[in-house]
Amino acid sequence: MSQQGLTLDYSRILSNSVGTTHGLTSAELDGAGRRVMETVATIERERKDGRHRYRDLPDDAAMLRGIRTAIKPRANAFENLVVLGIGGSALGNIALQTALNPPYYNSLPTTRRGGPRLFVVDNVDPVQVASLLEVLGPRLRKTLFNVITKSGETAETAAQFLIVRKLLRDKLGDRALRRNLLVTTDAHSGTMREIVDAEGWETLAVPEGVGGRFSVLSAVGLFSAGMCGINIGKLLSGAREMGKRCAQRTLKRNPAAMLALLLHAYYVRGKRLHVMMPYSHQLKDLADWYRQLWAESLGKCTARDGTPVVVGPTPIKALGATDQHSQVQLYREGPNDKVFIFLEVERFKKDVRIPRVAGTPASLKYLQGTSLARLLTAEKRATEFALVRSGRPCLTIRFPQINEEHVGAFIMLWEAATTIAGYLLEIDPYDQPAVQMGKDYTYALMGKDGFAAQRREIDTFASRGRKSSV
Ligand code: PA5
Repeated sequence: MSQQGLTLDYSRILSNSVGTTHGLTSAELDGAGRRVMETVATIERERKDGRHRYRDLPDDAAMLRGIRTAIKPRANAFENLVVLGIGGSALGNIALQTALNPPYYNSLPTTRRGGPRLFVVDNVDPVQVASLLEVLGPRLRKTLFNVITKSGETAETAAQFLIVRKLLRDKLGDRALRRNLLVTTDAHSGTMREIVDAEGWETLAVPEGVGGRFSVLSAVGLFSAGMCGINIGKLLSGAREMGKRCAQRTLKRNPAAMLALLLHAYYVRGKRLHVMMPYSHQLKDLADWYRQLWAESLGKCTARDGTPVVVGPTPIKALGATDQHSQVQLYREGPNDKVFIFLEVERFKKDVRIPRVAGTPASLKYLQGTSLARLLTAEKRATEFALVRSGRPCLTIRFPQINEEHVGAFIMLWEAATTIAGYLLEIDPYDQPAVQMGKDYTYALMGKDGFAAQRREIDTFASRGRKSSV
């Protein structure tokens, strides 16, 4: 990758670092490279036929205009922004906020925040939801709820919506529904679309052909980001530049192709656990976002030609240095079935010096006069070295610094790599039938019309199972 942008360092995955048993040789790279580059060519051809629409989002000027138009009158009008959504309708929002706004953003005084406080409620935990509503209660008038659901059918989001709609109506009256609620949903279909059309509410659209976990660079993720002062134009321009690199036909110029190739090659060799370990608090929620993207896109039981398969790497999140003290023992000495993907930052936005203090014991003198950034980076290098010495392959994605362009690039890199990896695994990376099945049985258990058969099935299953518990 270019030196000004993100770099994907794969030197610690090659056999001359990790050893021949666990490392990849240049010949293996070249061999796999041909198939990967054919896959890239196929994807680029399909893009011309309107597929892989998430790749076009950075160029969608009308979309960006629409989002900015929605932000303008609202940005200074609210103290709180609450995103109601789940999965692909929430994880990107959380990741952008953690990466690009200061930690403890919500606790900063208004003048030091770029916009309203942000709460993303991606669950229906009753204690969590009740507690948030209690906190917001006195300032409800100053709270905007952004309901995000592409399908418009998801039980968790629908339940949150119904609760909030009644709350707003009861406490502030019908007019508040237009002012304090903004729905992001499919432009044409779904129950939420029917509701908003019937009410005549202004909405934001989830672009056609863009699935939930690929939608962070649309209104789904960009509205809340822009409301909270993040430069969404720069996010898109970083993604655009990375998109161009992901279309390159030469393996060594195409970071997404290289990433997919390496992770797929190890998958085939039996290293099916892919641990992403950022050494940066700001990047920790991007690892959550990656976890959904990689898991939901690649874990499938049907190949694209319809034949049954069982495939899918397991993405794992760890945080440096915190999880050195919880997981690295397993990673170094346990089964060698993982690939490590470190996220490293070259220049942190802030640093804290470790002071020299008279009387400090000799055993702590090595810390004096250095800084936390230096310590964290040293810990990353040391952990990587220890893993590599134990024959564990490690990749590093290096951020020159954390800013909108690099975060946009990171998002596009992983989305493009996911498509390529899906094609290498010969599955459809865009569907999620297993998630849908869980949704359907939830509808059945909650008594939704049209799901009686599933209700009978689940009841029969429950009555047959032997009661075993301790
Ligand atoms: O990636 C996906 O498609 C899913 O994770 C969805 O985002 C999630 O299930 C929520 O769906 P919806 O936005 O339709 O409510």
